[in-house]
Amino acid sequence: VSDVTNQNVNEALLNEVLASFDDSRNSRLVEILRSAVKHLHAFVEETNLTRDEWMTGIDFLTDTGKKSINSRQEFILLSDTLGVSMLVELVNQKSTVNATDPTVLGPFYIPDSPMMEMNSFIGSDDEGADPLTVTGIVQSTNGDLLGDAIIEVWQVAPNGLYDVQDVDVDAPNYRARFQTCSDGRFSIRTSKPIDYQIPTDGPVGTMLTETGRSSWRPAHIHFRVSCPGHKTLVTHVFDASSRYLESDAVFGVMDSLKLEMSGDEASFDFVLDEE
Ligand SMILES: [Fe+2]
Repeated sequence: VSDVTNQNVNEALLNEVLASFDDSRNSRLVEILRSAVKHLHAFVEETNLTRDEWMTGIDFLTDTGKKSINSRQEFILLSDTLGVSMLVELVNQKSTVNATDPTVLGPFYIPDSPMMEMNSFIGSDDEGADPLTVTGIVQSTNGDLLGDAIIEVWQVAPNGLYDVQDVDVDAPNYRARFQTCSDGRFSIRTSKPIDYQIPTDGPVGTMLTETGRSSWRPAHIHFRVSCPGHKTLVTHVFDASSRYLESDAVFGVMDSLKLEMSGDEASFDFVLDEE
């Protein structure tokens, strides 16, 4: 059998799979599935994927699912470490030039974190950590100050773990929600974030080890800022002095999100796109 014949058989198979979606009424779903199938078939051909390698991939994805629970989303971690999460943010990029840049949500976001009074301390302990107060304004790209914005904030505790990773913590810690003041201002007291390693005890960690990649993320604070009439912003603010800014394990750093955190106060404004 010549390569040309093989190629024709492969192509016929691909076309048969693509045509199998012809009767669907969900055109967007079909568009996504057809594109995924095309790329997956091309990937198998390009790599001459062996049966064993295919099975290794199946096992890897199975393990990724098994490792995922409510508080630990290994699939998001996989997406993050392959740059896919960041690409999704980039293709959904802000439409207005002065809106705040987004970055990855990460695997540790939890909805409905505790609502706190302005200027509250978001941790339950600050052992060995430097205090940091983050202040700023939430505003619209049209210049309006947003007094009814909700700021969700989360970060690693001074021990380098998110609350959901820490078996000794059973309540939200370094995780809170605030509503902006009527003039759009906010003030949040926390501990200076530290560089940390993404979890390496699952399949993603195995992938990083096998490929000699770093598991470090530059110190950052996560923010999710929402307000009626505006696009929800998912972003981080990074410590501008971190040594890992150039080698973030999840490729999430953007220049506009670096913030000087050497003092005990830092200021960062969030600008939301109108919907
Ligand atoms: Fe993080």
